[in-house]
Amino acid sequence: MTSRTASMTALVLFVAAGTASEAAEDRSHLPLPVRPCAVCHGNEGISELAGFPNLAGQKAGYLVKQTTEMHLSARALLGLGAGGVEGPPTRHQSLWTEHRENRTMARQSVMLDDAGIQAIAGYFAAKPRACPPPGVTRGTKLTLVERCAVCHGEDGIGATPNVPNLAGQHRLYLADQIRKMRSAERGEVFIDAEIARASGVMGPQAVQVPEDQIDALALWFANSPCAERK
Ligand code: HEC
Ligand code: HEC
Repeated sequence: MTSRTASMTALVLFVAAGTASEAAEDRSHLPLPVRPCAVCHGNEGISELAGFPNLAGQKAGYLVKQTTEMHLSARALLGLGAGGVEGPPTRHQSLWTEHRENRTMARQSVMLDDAGIQAIAGYFAAKPRACPPPGVTRGTKLTLVERCAVCHGEDGIGATPNVPNLAGQHRLYLADQIRKMRSAERGEVFIDAEIARASGVMGPQAVQVPEDQIDALALWFANSPCAERK
């Protein structure tokens, strides 16, 4: 999928999510800064569509890092400066190792400040993560799982604050992110692409995953049973 078709897909999903849940769902009980985010990510941080990641039970430090990266790239794109958020310089720099850009999320994160980012991250991190429905299996455990487990844990619970939990995430989203980070590491994606994700730690991991193992790894970690959660 090219970055343009991927962003079109995100846009279509957005419109679908907006019409399906916006009218029906009351968000007035949610903290103010969380409300716009809940439209796609769910009131409890569990989204209805695989294109929108679940945020429930995710590491707060990781959520802050990702939101900050998307905020900074959105600001840089518009030439606005960092906007009171600490981060790299205000201009797009092709050598940012930690870089995440997504036009759907750019619109959402561009006006946030540090306090807002922290508050939203804290809210979603405190929610219980999604558990796989009964009877759903994790599929085959590939040899590669051992390597991923060094950081993400055998059951998809990240070892340190900046390592995301993979357990309870949409498997299609996980597979998509591995492919995005692999593309960036291979130099296939330009930094002002509409969708880009580069990670100094995960990039070198992602390039080592054979294409035909990505979906199985995503399935394994996404459907880690809740009973085994730490
Ligand atoms: C219009 C739908 C939409 C809204 C509203 C939205 N997001 Fe997102 N969000 C997305 C999509 C799509 C992605 C996946 C981006 C990608 O593929 O890189 C995402 C990804 C994220 C991630 C990365 C999660 C991970 O596991 O790495 C975070 C954090 C996040 N959003 C926070 C927020 C916050 C905070 C708000 C509110 C200010 C918000 N989002 C509002 C669509 C949305
Ligand atoms: C050396 C530690 C390390 C290893 C080993 C590792 N990862 Fe990661 N992974 C990370 C870090 C750190 C991030 C967050 C990257 C960022 O901040 O953008 C991440 C992010 C991810 C994400 C994105 C999650 C999200 O919510 O968007 C996926 C998917 C992922 N890793 C899968 C894997 C798989 C599959 C393997 C094994 C092939 C693996 N990782 C091996 C450290 C690691």
